[in-house]
Amino acid sequence: MENNAMRKVFTRQDIDQMEKTPRLNLVNSCVGYKSANLIASRTADGKVNLAMFGSIIHIGSEPPLLGFMQRPSSKPRDTYSNIKEFGWFTVNHVSTAMIQDAHHTSAHYDSDESEFDHTSLDEEYVDGVEVPFVAESPVQLLCRFQNEYSIQENGAVLMVAAIEMIRVDFGLMGNDGWLRLDKGAVVAVNGLDGYALPRMVNRFSYALPGKPSESLLVHNGKNGDDLPRQIADSETAS
Ligand SMILES: Cc1cc2nc3c(=O)[nH]c(=O)nc-3n(C[C@H](O)[C@H](O)[C@H](O)COP(=O)(O)O)c2cc1C
Repeated sequence: MENNAMRKVFTRQDIDQMEKTPRLNLVNSCVGYKSANLIASRTADGKVNLAMFGSIIHIGSEPPLLGFMQRPSSKPRDTYSNIKEFGWFTVNHVSTAMIQDAHHTSAHYDSDESEFDHTSLDEEYVDGVEVPFVAESPVQLLCRFQNEYSIQENGAVLMVAAIEMIRVDFGLMGNDGWLRLDKGAVVAVNGLDGYALPRMVNRFSYALPGKPSESLLVHNGKNGDDLPRQIADSETAS
């Protein structure tokens, strides 16, 4: 490993030669903060599963699509097999009050045990939806499996799903559809086991060449809180 005055430097060879745990920690945290979500799924005969995922990504907004990475594993993967079997699942944002339980859902319980029964997280059922949401979660998404893409390099699978319903706590919702996640104390994942609480710093108008980007947040003078200013539809990205 080369060190200079300012940085620690790891070459690919250094990374390959690292012990397993520090390598996992380094490689998982070097990609930056990730979203923190609980995926609730079920088998066709109604066995429920809950598991922590840090790889939920936006895939597209028309149609509304998200994806997540299912890691390669020699152990049974309940989330993956449930989604392939039943098709429907929910993605539930993790807030600060939920982190300890959310983390615990990554423990390998047997397939016939529900992580809801091993945490204080509660199932929430909504009319016409046959898979539970996580009641404590401030943002809940109902998803329908669309496709899977295997990653040739390591056997991981990119799961792609359509977003069929979005349920949001009132306090988070802006007039222009933007969800202000910090108002729900929604956390981010740092590496494999660190949970951080992001703070909103600013929000900008749609970036155009040659035009300085403008702030969309105005200070309302109360509690140091910033509120989103109304923005014209023409300025928003899809
Ligand atoms: C913070 C955090 C993020 C995780 N992200 C993922 C992920 O993106 N993909 C994945 O396959 N496993 C991820 N895991 C591991 C799963 O939670 C774990 O393998 C779990 O046991 C899977 O449960 P299941 O077999 O019931 O689906 C993560 C674990 C933690 C603690």
